[in-house]
Amino acid sequence: MKGVVLAGGLGSRLYPLTKVTNKHLLPVARKPMIYYPIEQLVRTGIRDITIVTGGTNAGDFLRLLGNGRQFGLDHLNFIYQEGEGGIAEALGLTRSFVGDDAVMVALGDNLIDGELISFADGFRRQFSGARLLLKKVPNPERFGVAEIEDGKLIRIEEKPKHPKSNYAVTGFYIYDSRVFDIIATLEPSKRGELEITDVNNQYIAWGEAEFDILEAHWTDAGTFYSLMRANLLAMPNDERLRLLDEMDAIAMAKRDH
Ligand code: DAU
Repeated sequence: MKGVVLAGGLGSRLYPLTKVTNKHLLPVARKPMIYYPIEQLVRTGIRDITIVTGGTNAGDFLRLLGNGRQFGLDHLNFIYQEGEGGIAEALGLTRSFVGDDAVMVALGDNLIDGELISFADGFRRQFSGARLLLKKVPNPERFGVAEIEDGKLIRIEEKPKHPKSNYAVTGFYIYDSRVFDIIATLEPSKRGELEITDVNNQYIAWGEAEFDILEAHWTDAGTFYSLMRANLLAMPNDERLRLLDEMDAIAMAKRDH
């Protein structure tokens, strides 16, 4: 299985932190943000990884990550995305890298306090199709949201006003190589991007999308609030997870009233 970490986009929701640097180079606890998804992929046994990035700071990724040796890799690949045409567009650029293999994709601003090993093993048993990682959250309208019926995925809606469940689609995905054929058929959404949710819905329509529900803590880091959560999640102390749970409980209580 190949690995892809997506680190393009503007990071505009974090301005001015992202005025002179890329979001994924910002500090989270003791490391630059992008270290976390790379380390996750490596811990599942993936040894062949490509980073997709863009913008004016792309060279800084090479300076920071070099040949990937600090992650136990022999080398690391880099691809440049012009503009910010969406997650699916960025993934589409890795077609020749992935070839006929399967690919685990990690969004460069996603962190979990757990391991992806059983997720990867689940796909290995499945052989083909797509595998998604869902997480119960208090604020699903910020994410892709999964509709589930009788233990099956029915549909995913991107940032719905009225979410059909509390299950967010996290930024960890595994696909077979047909993902690139799907991406080639996509049209830009209303926000002008090729949406990963459209890719996932195609696999669901084929009846070939499976999922796991993550029990560990998860966050993205694309807003000031979630960046703060990411710092808590990545801190090496015992109080951090209790604080995260309390933040979730407060967010849930606010929605209920
Ligand atoms: O974090 C999980 C969520 O990520 C999912 O629940 C959503 O379904 C998915 O669409 C995405 O939502 P966001 O709107 O939060 O994604 P964002 O635009 O912040 O992009 C997430 C990462 O994807 C970003 O850290 C870098 C990468 N990216 C994004 C774009 C738009 C690229 O590499 N290139 C791009 O053009």
